[in-house]
Amino acid sequence: MFRWFKPKKPKHVDTHVPIIEDFSDPDELYRFFTATTGITFEQKKSITTTKLINFARDHRFASFTSLLSALRNDVRVMESLINFLTVNETYFFREMAQIEFMARQVAGSHKKMRILCAPGSTGEEPYTVAITLCEAGVDLNRVEIVSIDINTKAIEHARQGLYSRRSLHRLTDQLISRYFTSEGEKYRLNASICAHVRFEAMNIFDPAMAEFGTFDYLFSRNMLIYFDQPTVFSAVERLSRLAHDAKSLFFFGHADILSSPPGLSEHYAHGVKYYTLRACEPA
Ligand SMILES: C[S@@+](CC[C@H](N)C(=O)[O-])C[C@H]1O[C@@H](n2cnc3c(N)ncnc32)[C@H](O)[C@@H]1O
Repeated sequence: MFRWFKPKKPKHVDTHVPIIEDFSDPDELYRFFTATTGITFEQKKSITTTKLINFARDHRFASFTSLLSALRNDVRVMESLINFLTVNETYFFREMAQIEFMARQVAGSHKKMRILCAPGSTGEEPYTVAITLCEAGVDLNRVEIVSIDINTKAIEHARQGLYSRRSLHRLTDQLISRYFTSEGEKYRLNASICAHVRFEAMNIFDPAMAEFGTFDYLFSRNMLIYFDQPTVFSAVERLSRLAHDAKSLFFFGHADILSSPPGLSEHYAHGVKYYTLRACEPA
């Protein structure tokens, strides 16, 4: 090396520029999330705000304002937040009276039937519908079951048809061996059942719901509990547009509907509560 050449010392670059965080006002973010999904967090605002801060930090947002701007402009950020905040709790053979009621009617007819689960979460409910119809002797080829959910991870899970023992706790060993094959610690639902349920990621408020056509039986259970009253009515109104005809039946979860929605009539039969379009007699 030439004696006059002195290599320069590299300049010190400070990579630790402090990030100034501001997670002071989540209200606008809550308003945007609720307007899009229907979900409100009134009862759990403090714990949800902590979750929102964790989400923002994990995704490198330093404030609710910058997170909100990303939610408005990048559908992938919104999708991640929806997957993060929605409660997908479900299991096979949950609230069976309504499903058995539907299965008896379908078994007593020879018509083609279309059934909607909105939401179907990770698939346990729509698959329960298929299993129950199968147990009632219904040929599944004349039944179309569509299951939608806003949570894209739940839809992926549903399509795999692979479940933990916990999801199956209501099934007898006999039913488990008839419809599942064990795979390590998990249970795989038989392809003969999986093939009869179509899963789509969809927001119940998305006008594209109309593209699924109309249905004879519409299940919407344990989602409306997360909505406020006007939003419950608005969701029910959206679902009403998907009724095939006056004989279409709607089933909601026990805690979903606190007062009868305008547009629907309430009925009871065999201990089961169901609804039809208003001014229509029950099936
Ligand atoms: C508790 S699970 C209920 C699943 C099943 N129906 C049951 O009763 O077991 C509620 C589901 O509603 C979904 N959900 C919430 N808001 C939604 C919306 N706007 N559109 C579609 N699905 C939604 C959530 O992602 C979640 O999977």
